[in-house]
Amino acid sequence: MTADGWLDRLLVPAAHRLPSNAEYLAHLGVAAADETLIRLASNENTEPPSPRVREALERAYLDANLSPPPVPPLRHALAARHGVGVEQVLLGAGSTELIDAILRAFVRAGDEVVLPTPSWPVFRRRLEALEARIVDVPLDAGEEAYAYDVDAMLDAVTDETKILIVCSPNNPTGNAMPTNELRRCAAAGPLLLLDAAYADFDTGDDVMRLVDESERVVVTRTFSKAYCLAGLRVGYVMGNGDLLDHVDRFLVPGSSISSAALHAGLAAFEDEEYHRRQVERIRAERERLTAELRALGVRAFDSRGNFVAIEAPEGARTLADAILEHGVVVRVMGERLVRITVGRREENDGVLAAIRRARAPRPAARSPR
Ligand SMILES: Cc1ncc(COP(=O)(O)O)c(C=O)c1O
Repeated sequence: MTADGWLDRLLVPAAHRLPSNAEYLAHLGVAAADETLIRLASNENTEPPSPRVREALERAYLDANLSPPPVPPLRHALAARHGVGVEQVLLGAGSTELIDAILRAFVRAGDEVVLPTPSWPVFRRRLEALEARIVDVPLDAGEEAYAYDVDAMLDAVTDETKILIVCSPNNPTGNAMPTNELRRCAAAGPLLLLDAAYADFDTGDDVMRLVDESERVVVTRTFSKAYCLAGLRVGYVMGNGDLLDHVDRFLVPGSSISSAALHAGLAAFEDEEYHRRQVERIRAERERLTAELRALGVRAFDSRGNFVAIEAPEGARTLADAILEHGVVVRVMGERLVRITVGRREENDGVLAAIRRARAPRPAARSPR
């Protein structure tokens, strides 16, 4: 509280209601405070990046004194790989920055945004900051897999709708939306924001094709997962060039990605073999982890990402705390939903052992004589 409440009077209304980032990111603090913990709470890649990234970071020293170019080589490389013009790609300091800029470019207070639930909490947090009207559309929870209710999403679109958000594969539930359903979403709403942060781990169609098919689709991708660069903050969005030019106006002028991160991103992107091995390793471990969780009697949901969601009948917080007691940080993603990042084999064995111990009946207390 400030003297006579001057701060309260200065803040925009949404600022009074926004939950704190520190609280939201508490799991990162827990993991950072103890290096011995197995860190499976943030969907990072638990392996280091390609050795080519190390060389690129060393080279980055040489131009660290210069501002990054307005159209960095990474942007050209992404455009070439996806077969689009360079104006159809924008880079950001993580895809979070781009998603935030897209929302700010299109959404005013009171505008409707259709948001499947549960999904990545950052969508809601950014929309709340903008005082958007969030139209929640629950996902269907099957016994072993979640699914989007696309008919319900399309029914939720009105004249006031600005954006339909689809995260595919969805964090935290792991399900993907088939391409023909994505097309229906693109046709229904004024704009489809497709967050494809985990698309590398999906075996489905190349969703980037949707950008060719419709001007009303923007797709965001990240280097934080399959490319092992969460710490360097590199993401991109693809879409219509005019649309992205307006999104760009909501980014800070000049680059918010450092030249070091741009060099590193390009090196990681060009090491296709390393990327392929990471994706294969994580997919194989994801399937093993899911099967082993089910063998333990845990309700684990099929996933196309680098994580697996499980149901916690005892309450997600209770289960996550019990797993932490056995040395593994996992993430609470709902009242009864816990999300486990797929790590290296030994890390995944660590979380399986932790769950086994956390679920084991405690020895009865000895009654006093
Ligand atoms: C669904 C989803 N989108 C986007 C991001 C953001 O990634 P970054 O900002 O690191 O590119 C994440 C990160 O966890 C995510 O889960």
